[in-house]
Amino acid sequence: MPSARTIRLRVNGEERRLTVDAATTLSELLRGQFGLTGLKIGCDLGECGACTVLLDGKPVLSCITLAVTADGAAVTTIEGVAHGGTLDDVQRNFLEHGGLQCGFCTPGMILSAKGLLGEQAHPDEDTVRHALAGNLCRCTGYQKIVNAVTGKSAAGGAPSKVDGVPQVTGAAQYTDDLALPRMIHGKILRSPHPHARIVSIDTSGAERMEGVLAVMTGKDLPEKFGILPASQDETALAVDRVRFVGDPVAAVAAIDERTAKEALSLIEVRYEPLPAVLSMKDAARRDLPKIHNDTRYRDNTAKHVELAFGDVEEGFAGADYVREDEFFYDGNTHAMLEPHSALASYEPAAGVPAAGSSAVGGGYLTLWSSTQVPHYVHRTLARVLGMPESHIRVIKPYLGGGFGGKSEPFALEMCAAWLAMKTGRPVKITYTREEVFYSHRGRHATRMWLKTGVKKDGTITAVDYKAWLDGGAYGSFGVVTSYYTGQFLTLPYKVPRFRFESTRYYTNKPPCGPKRGHGAPQPRFAFEAQFDLIAAVLGIDPAELRLRN
Ligand code: FES
Repeated sequence: MPSARTIRLRVNGEERRLTVDAATTLSELLRGQFGLTGLKIGCDLGECGACTVLLDGKPVLSCITLAVTADGAAVTTIEGVAHGGTLDDVQRNFLEHGGLQCGFCTPGMILSAKGLLGEQAHPDEDTVRHALAGNLCRCTGYQKIVNAVTGKSAAGGAPSKVDGVPQVTGAAQYTDDLALPRMIHGKILRSPHPHARIVSIDTSGAERMEGVLAVMTGKDLPEKFGILPASQDETALAVDRVRFVGDPVAAVAAIDERTAKEALSLIEVRYEPLPAVLSMKDAARRDLPKIHNDTRYRDNTAKHVELAFGDVEEGFAGADYVREDEFFYDGNTHAMLEPHSALASYEPAAGVPAAGSSAVGGGYLTLWSSTQVPHYVHRTLARVLGMPESHIRVIKPYLGGGFGGKSEPFALEMCAAWLAMKTGRPVKITYTREEVFYSHRGRHATRMWLKTGVKKDGTITAVDYKAWLDGGAYGSFGVVTSYYTGQFLTLPYKVPRFRFESTRYYTNKPPCGPKRGHGAPQPRFAFEAQFDLIAAVLGIDPAELRLRN
């Protein structure tokens, strides 16, 4: 440790003297060396506030604070907020006001609040909002958090959350907080191209690097998977082609994250770039390469759906007013605070490997994952690893938000499992915030054409609807979304005649999937916007128009 320095810290009241590398951040020191995992890493860029701790009573972002700069300071983490066995008032207020849901942002929120309350005993709402502006929360909507800090009496009292106490004390463990003896770390190499053929991959440089224990490529796990029978188009790592910037290509397991990351730079991948399909307009062209060769369409259509009931043309003929509009709803992503993380541990079999089991052995795999749907992960691991389901256990610890974005199996789960089987050591892989965006599975960008007929009194006579969905590089949950976009359009209203067609395209972008309302917000936005326009033309109050239907 050439640039090491000795520092003194008072951590949660305990004096510590230790030697740290000058490049070590305070969050790395507190989580890694002190095991204070109540401090969370949401972005590692000083943007989200989940890593907030108090330095001499003042909130700081520990992920962008060097440990050496804290020399001589008193550090308070969430584990040091309660008074012995009694919760602090702020912790109790968060519980009583329902100021937490997934709890991932909660330690940082509470410490920012403690910093403010240390300066002002009774701040007003604006002051609280200003003080917490650097702490992001994706679950609560903020008002209950603000109420918890001002101490405003809870409306009716929030029902107590069964897992609330560990969340306000920092005892709740999310996947990245877990550590096992002899655990090593994995990192994934990703494609810099939106669309390219993989000519060759040379992993020898990474394999020779000190501290590297295993390297894998797509050829090690070539079995295709997808959560639906109709979308079996992914592999754990790209096998012969990359289909979006960020597509996983190779993975490394090493003694620590820094070594694993450095080893990625020693993997040499030769690509032959292919024309990229970056819009739905291009996806409908037949002169551009197909992103997946084995579809039944001649362009980059991934799924086409049609559904109708009633005689729509008759409905329009009987209408007093018919209008057509086009709408566009842009794609967006979940931005859950907890990045995806997986930890795999493999116990070799005592006897001879079972017939049909993985070449690595017939043992037992345990995987902890930040997944919303453990059974999808379970089934996919069995398929991809060639193991019996009874030899795999998937555990979901506390989950720091998902909103649909952690519904499917991801590369890190399969890579952590394979690397653990290969090395015989537990392997953890946690995505960076950048990788979370590549993994995506967010809301489909959707273009919509909508034709609605109504009588003079506003009664709907018929609806005709066409949707085009930008699905990104893989099927994901998008097959379902192709149906939902039509099925969710009519939900709140009586629509006697209805027809819809939807087309989901493959494009060379991160794959889209389910996100809060899965496929519903886009058509609901289009229909409600058009309904308002109809209300204005008919001179009917928009609320009344909805009640009549
Ligand atoms: Fe704030 Fe989930 S409770 S991010």
